[in-house]
Amino acid sequence: MSFELSPIEKAKFVAAKQATQYVKDGMKVGLGTGSTAAWLVKCLGELVEKEGLKIKGIPTSTRTAELARNVGIEVISLDEAKWLDLTIDGTDEYDDNFNLIKGGGGALLQEKIVATASDQMIVIADASKHVKTLGQFPLPIEVIPFGWQTTKSLVEESLIGMDLLGRQVALRMKGEVPFYTDEGNHILDLHLKRIGNVRNFSIIINQIPGIVENGLFIDVCDKVIIGYGDGNVEVLDINEGLIEKNRIDFVETTNLFADLND
Ligand code: A5P
Repeated sequence: MSFELSPIEKAKFVAAKQATQYVKDGMKVGLGTGSTAAWLVKCLGELVEKEGLKIKGIPTSTRTAELARNVGIEVISLDEAKWLDLTIDGTDEYDDNFNLIKGGGGALLQEKIVATASDQMIVIADASKHVKTLGQFPLPIEVIPFGWQTTKSLVEESLIGMDLLGRQVALRMKGEVPFYTDEGNHILDLHLKRIGNVRNFSIIINQIPGIVENGLFIDVCDKVIIGYGDGNVEVLDINEGLIEKNRIDFVETTNLFADLND
């Protein structure tokens, strides 16, 4: 059976594959959520199966937990792990300071808790995720369902006067009904276009009652691994800049790509 991946999927795959070099025997590894993180989980599963890699995975969503178990990774909870060696996750945007917008897949709360409880966070992404200024991707914020419309009004009010280019706030839907996170909350997507001061923004928005967390990850990410559709990868470190360039042979094995059409 042969598969043809799009350049963007190849880019995600090679970024994920490169990230596996940082995963060592005995590590407790935070497993991100999303299409890029799914490649990572599959690559790690292959290493567990074929090379006997011994890790414990701490998933950041029920989706990732299910995938990790399916590929043979031992899954434990964050409470069991307490502290992690490393978290590897995708992102919706990253800037030159490795600040991120995450939560496009609705898993920002667990992702932020897990990444923050890790010695190191590595982001895996294709080059399209890089921006000069965060905010082109709608910023997700997780709100509790109780009084969410009041919370939304308070958010809209707080956006007035902030250094932003857009101020539209939308409740995330899943078909006809509001989207629910793994924690039973809703997501408000903030169409801000450009966030002038992410630090201030994060502090102010999190003070509104009803908001559980926002999707800005500030000073959390240590490395960004950028994948390209031709198999090239670059590893950027927050302190050292570009630390590695590599080219990953793209070998399409039925094992990794079998569920491509799911
Ligand atoms: C999940 O809630 C998100 O934070 C994802 O990590 C982010 O949306 C990146 O997803 P993709 O890898 O699918 O682009």
